[in-house]
Amino acid sequence: MTDAPADLLAIARTIAVEAGELIARRRAEGVTVAASKSSPEDVVTFADRESEDFIRARLAELRHGDGFLGEESAGITPSSTGITWVVDPIDGTVNYLYNIPAYAVSIAAVQGDPDPERWTTLAGVVVNPVLGEVFTASLGGGAFLGERKLAVNADVPLASALVGTGFAYSAELRVKQGRFVTGLVEKVRDIRRAGSAALDLCSVAAGRLDAYAERGLNPWDHAAGALIAREAGAQVGGLDGGAEGLTLTFAAHPSLAAELAPLVWALHREAGLPL
Ligand code: IPD
Ligand code: CA
Ligand code: CA
Ligand code: CA
Repeated sequence: MTDAPADLLAIARTIAVEAGELIARRRAEGVTVAASKSSPEDVVTFADRESEDFIRARLAELRHGDGFLGEESAGITPSSTGITWVVDPIDGTVNYLYNIPAYAVSIAAVQGDPDPERWTTLAGVVVNPVLGEVFTASLGGGAFLGERKLAVNADVPLASALVGTGFAYSAELRVKQGRFVTGLVEKVRDIRRAGSAALDLCSVAAGRLDAYAERGLNPWDHAAGALIAREAGAQVGGLDGGAEGLTLTFAAHPSLAAELAPLVWALHREAGLPL
């Protein structure tokens, strides 16, 4: 067992593809909501839980002693090896519920303290099983869609930027995020809310979006996608908690980030979002 990024990536990739096949199969059989979590919008299906249980069990078979942090499991399983797996078993659950083909399995291997501010992501995979798309990255090894190396869009002026974003499940926060979007839309080409943060970050990597900014993500939403965007040349920021523990995850080519980041912060201030 080695901790080389390429070896961790191979494991993450195999398991994410298998989990992708599992959730696509369950989707075809029909989806049932298992529960609402923090709000009525924040649903979990039986497939979210099954996917996470599957990923967790497969990792335990292949990697003894590693830590685990997944959306549907309570708390972190501590690591005795220095490696922790950060897993979103279905990113885009609401899309999954409605059969919108924009949901993904996200698996990252991180090293060090299991806190996005301090860990180093060594490998990340995001699989969209409906489109058969497998996004991968390893630290220093570049980002890929299948075999194709990815690069973010360069030299995009702010006024021509297509920007992805999303809304948290908290009612209070999403109203303010709506105000932020109202301010942003007149400054950029257009805005997309695709419904999967992991795929949004991969879209920046693949040049399908010029930038992405969203408040309030959790580590499992961005762990793999952030590495994929960074390895494709994006400046990625705001993965740490910040004030009140709310992240502002941000990804764009450095030249666009220099223009967009101050605007996003100013609009967040105006919208009353905590800074
Ligand atoms: C959500 C999606 C969504 C984003 C939310 C996330 P989930 O994750 O990534 O695009 O806007 O902030 O919570 O619940 O579908 O795994
Ligand atoms: Ca969720
Ligand atoms: Ca998620
Ligand atoms: Ca999820």
